[in-house]
Formats: sequence, structure tokens, C-alpha cells
Amino acid sequence: MTSKPFIPFGRPMLDDAEVRAVSEVLSGTTLVHGPMTHAFEERFAERVGTRHAISVSSCTAGLNLTLLVRDVGAGSEVVVPAMTHVATAHSAEACGAKPVFVDVEAHTGNLDPDAFAAAISPRTAAVTVVHYLGLPCDMDRIAPVAAAAGAFVLEDCALAVDAAFGDKKAGALGLAGCFSFYPVKHMTAAEGGMITTDDDRLAAALLHRRAFGYDRSPDKRQKPGIYDVTGLGLNARMNEVQAAIGAVQLSKLDGFQKARAENYRALREGLAEVAEITVFNSVVGKARSSHYCLNAVLPRDGSIDRDVAAASLKAAGIGTSVHYPVPVPLLSYYREKYQFRTGQFPVAEWIANQTISLPVGPHLADGDAERIIEAVRAAVVEARVKPTRQTMDAHT
Ligand SMILES: Cc1ncc(COP(=O)(O)O)c(C=O)c1O
Repeated sequence: MTSKPFIPFGRPMLDDAEVRAVSEVLSGTTLVHGPMTHAFEERFAERVGTRHAISVSSCTAGLNLTLLVRDVGAGSEVVVPAMTHVATAHSAEACGAKPVFVDVEAHTGNLDPDAFAAAISPRTAAVTVVHYLGLPCDMDRIAPVAAAAGAFVLEDCALAVDAAFGDKKAGALGLAGCFSFYPVKHMTAAEGGMITTDDDRLAAALLHRRAFGYDRSPDKRQKPGIYDVTGLGLNARMNEVQAAIGAVQLSKLDGFQKARAENYRALREGLAEVAEITVFNSVVGKARSSHYCLNAVLPRDGSIDRDVAAASLKAAGIGTSVHYPVPVPLLSYYREKYQFRTGQFPVAEWIANQTISLPVGPHLADGDAERIIEAVRAAVVEARVKPTRQTMDAHT
């Protein structure tokens, strides 16, 4: 056990600026459909470099709404990586489409372009690429395959604010990108999400259908309370309180990102001396990571017990996570519905079982990176799997 303060995996970085912004909203009368939301959207679009940003209630809602608006439904397939958050698959499944899972690359955790090409069928309507832990997928290989198949690319940018591929940012690499403002993400709005796109028609349809499919928003109604509904819509709006928090967070984002990059660099450098651990690169070809966290990758042979290592880190006061603990097709819902079996997604299964996500967020204080490195060093020794009689015999 340690007497030092616990370092959580992630923590929202909020101060008086967010409190003041929220108070201002609460002392007014507009809680939805208001100026904060518009201002936040405008500034987010500018940051990503797209013509539009449409705020939504979560990244999941954004993915779901985009697929819905593009008429992805029963009879369609959406290719998704096996190593992701369940939201990537659920957003397609909730439209009535079938998620088609493919394995990921061993050196990045991103959708494997060859596996993607092999998964294309006449029913493929879209591919949802997930920029795993903030490293953009290889869009030079994925986008042409999708285009040739007549499928569109939807980016799941939940962990990829400010990630870049060449001279474009994540969120500007496909038809649309969906971001998350859940508390431990790069920036938060308590909850919430944003859809970015350059497509004017898509943006208009998203606005229309994120709010019930109303033909006009309340401020554009000539007769108060009178409206028609001209499309199947959801209630997936962000409210003014969330937007006020998000706008303040956006103004602090440069500082947050600088701290993330620096913490990532320090951890990576320190862990280079721990022979049992490898770390995914944060720059691969044209892709540059947004440093959501640092995955410590343990040997494939299982010689280090991940769960014992994580418990050791916890006892040393270090919060960790796993991205993601089970490949999505092997979660009970998908396993049972589509009859998936262990062994079908070997790389995703290895990442799920043999990695630990370490914190690099701006909440780390001076000296924390060194503490984490020391604790990992000790955890690896503690978690070494003792050779059994059988394995010892095999080596003699
Ligand atoms: C890759 C990915 N996509 C989507 C989501 C869901 O985001 P939200 O909670 O904003 O719906 C997450 C959540 O962590 C995620 O990691």
C-alpha cells in the first residue's frame, strides 16, 4: 500500500470558469436551443476544420443518428472493428443494421485494412473506423476500399480530438466524425458529443432529425407551438448547460493536449527500459495520436498476468483501465446473437487480455509520471507467471 495520493486513470479538469459559465446559463431562461450550443458548435467545427459541427447528447447518439439519417437499416451491414467500445457496434445494431466485425492491426489496434477489404459485401453501407486510443486509422488504405464498395466512412472519434492524419484532423477524414465529451475524455461537457462533417445536406438532415424531425425549430415557428414532423427523428440534443461547459473546456484544450503529449512522452521513455512491455507508437506513417492514454502491452505468451499487474498498480495508488476488456463480438449480446467464438479475433483478444491503459491526462501532477513508471516496473515483477513443472520440463 502507499500513503501517496491515488492517481486516477482520468479526471475532468474543471474550475471556476466552468462554474461561472454554468451559473450564467442557469440564471437565464434558455436551457436548450440556445446561443451557447451554437457558439460551441461553431468553435468546434473551426478546431476540427470542417464546415459543420452538430452537437448531440453523446458520441453514441451521434453515430446512431448519422447512420439513421443515411438510411442505414435492416438489410444493411456496417463494418466495425472488433476492438472498440460497444457503442460503435450498438449504434449500427440500433438502426436494424448488422455490424460486421473485423480484427485489428497488432501494431496499432486499428481496423485492419486487409480484413476490412475481405469483409465487404453487396450489403455494406458503411464502415465505422475507430481511431484506437487516439491514433487515426490508415485512411489512405481504408477510404479507397470503402469508396469502391459504395460505402461511406463514419469516424468514431470518441478518443481522437485533435488526432491528425496528414494535414487533416480526425473528424474530417470521412463523411462524418463523432466525438465524445464523457467526463474522462480529452475535454468534457459532463456528457455530450459532436458530429463534424463537410457535407451540407448531411448537416441539415442531422439538425432536422436530432430533434424529433420537427420541420422547424421553436425559434422559427410563426405560430407558437405549431409544427409538423417531416422525418423520423430522435431527441439527441445537447443542452445549454453542457454546451457552456464544453465551450470553456475547448478554450483550455491546447493546455490539456500539451500536458497529455508530455506525460505520454515521459511514460514512453521510462517504460522503454522495462523489457517485458511494448508501447504502441503515437506516430505511424501519416497518423498522429491525440494521446488519450498509453497502452502498456504485455507479452503475447501470457508470461505476465495482466490482472495481477493491474492489482499491483492499484495497490501502489495508480488508476488504470483496459481498452477494451472484451472484443465486442465476444460480449454476451453479440456472441449469443451472431454465434461468435473465442479465437475468431486473435489480435483483438490479445489486446483485451494483455494490455493495461495507463493515465497520461492533464490531471497528472509533477512527479506522477515517474511514480507510474516505478510502479509498472514493480508490477511486472510481481505479475510474472511462475513456470509450472510442465513448462520447466519442456525447457530442460
Ligand atoms: C471508441 C468509443 N466510441 C464511443 C464511445 C461512447 O461515447 P459516449 O459515452 O459519448 O456515447 C466510447 C466511450 O468511451 C468509446 O471509447
